[in-house]
Amino acid sequence: MPAVGGISNGGGKEYPGSLTPFVTVTCIVAAMGGLIFGYDIGISGGVTSMDPFLLKFFPSVFRKKNSDKTVNQYCQYDSQTLTMFTSSLYLAALLSSLVASTVTRRFGRKLSMLFGGLLFLVGALINGFAQHVWMLIVGRILLGFGIGFANQSVPLYLSEMAPYKYRGALNIGFQLSITVGILVANVLNYFFAKIHGGWGWRLSLGGAMVPALIITIGSLVLPDTPNSMIERGDREKAKAQLRRVRGIDDVEEEFNDLVAASESSRKVEHPWRNLLQRKYRPHLTMAVLIPFFQQLTGINVIMFYAPVLFSSIGFKDDSALMSAVITGVVNVVATCVSIYGVDKWGRRALFLEGGVQMVICQAVVAAAIGAKFGIDGNPGDLPKWYAVVVVLFICIYVSAFAWSWGPLGWLVPSEIFPLEIRSAAQSINVSVNMFFTFLIAQVFLTMLCHMKFGLFIFFAFFVLIMTFFIYFFLPETKGIPIEEMNQVWKAHPFWSRFVENDDYGNGVEMGRGTAIKEV
Ligand code: BGC
Repeated sequence: MPAVGGISNGGGKEYPGSLTPFVTVTCIVAAMGGLIFGYDIGISGGVTSMDPFLLKFFPSVFRKKNSDKTVNQYCQYDSQTLTMFTSSLYLAALLSSLVASTVTRRFGRKLSMLFGGLLFLVGALINGFAQHVWMLIVGRILLGFGIGFANQSVPLYLSEMAPYKYRGALNIGFQLSITVGILVANVLNYFFAKIHGGWGWRLSLGGAMVPALIITIGSLVLPDTPNSMIERGDREKAKAQLRRVRGIDDVEEEFNDLVAASESSRKVEHPWRNLLQRKYRPHLTMAVLIPFFQQLTGINVIMFYAPVLFSSIGFKDDSALMSAVITGVVNVVATCVSIYGVDKWGRRALFLEGGVQMVICQAVVAAAIGAKFGIDGNPGDLPKWYAVVVVLFICIYVSAFAWSWGPLGWLVPSEIFPLEIRSAAQSINVSVNMFFTFLIAQVFLTMLCHMKFGLFIFFAFFVLIMTFFIYFFLPETKGIPIEEMNQVWKAHPFWSRFVENDDYGNGVEMGRGTAIKEV
């Protein structure tokens, strides 16, 4: 019996073709779709810690923060309307990713990206000129619609375009641009907060137009993926496209497999209902649990609320924003480690190492904050070394996330679904991700207020569970062509019972030279 996750593609199909400049440039442009998501994640936390912004839209939070010294430090930002500002976007993204599934399947990945860019553009405009809370919320809902479309289509696009040996690295381009978006947003917040007259937040929010334009224009010039062209019945063009993407003439084998996959997917009239079939149980489980776990790492507590969190634990406003910039840099750099290693060390190794590293850091941060603030949240003066230790461990935690659950939370779902359920399953992935992003954004400040430093223990507990989950249930997907992925489930000690006797129907048979090795 193979070890858990023990499958390798040694001796498996090896489609010819490598990393051509064409595919590299195409993937870089497409990956920029992550910028809008990242920019938004990074911008809202900083804006909600800017006094002029609070004073204009959330005066009660402003008063609580600035005048009421009796308020427990952990609770100073606890306001449902303020969190609604951050989290409304994720509900909208959840809804739109469901619609985006159909657009992505029927009209191609490109069109979804275009919608994503345009909706985001309008949302950014409304936010930059907002005069009332309702304008803020409407703007954020539009941004959310945009993100739903982009997050639905970009990861699929990248995984389909990439030659399978480099799929991990190219797909992580998406996560890299999420992290660049977050960092740019944090840096801009840092400077815009200093603008005289207190209108810097308008630049922060309106600045989202720049990444929106990038993805809008990008989607107009990008070619569609061969898989999607075949899916929409354009075989000749698809073949020419595949030749161009792979940089060789001999694409017969890969092309035939794509056609076979598409033919079986055509028979499927109800991709949603289909997902409930027994043979898709492993896929459905991953489509739900991977995004759920990704959010339950607690990463967005840092990403959304880093400045608020740092100022809650006693840093001055300016140093709070600065610490957020530092975690932003760590996030980008550590994502590059993942790009380097994901197709070499595999997905499982990164997931497992990242999990252990995160638990350790969360325990240390909980202990450090608990020791200083205790239950009443009253720290007195914070010594410098203390601040350094907290920021350091938060950085080590962020780096662990950035080479494990961050990129892999998008990569793995985009590569494990067979074509016939790919768009629908990706929508579930995006929706679950957005739902829990919403939930954490919405309840975090209240949780901090009630659970205090125990909040970090809460997330550490989940990281422990997800690490065991990966160990026992996630097969390795490195180096397996995307339309041949079924073999990993068939070889898995637990999942094989669901897929064993099922012909996937995509015409990609097992055994055509596919050796499954024990490792
Ligand atoms: C997650 C986001 C998170 C970001 C941090 C992404 O993969 O989906 O929720 O904020 O990583 O870099």
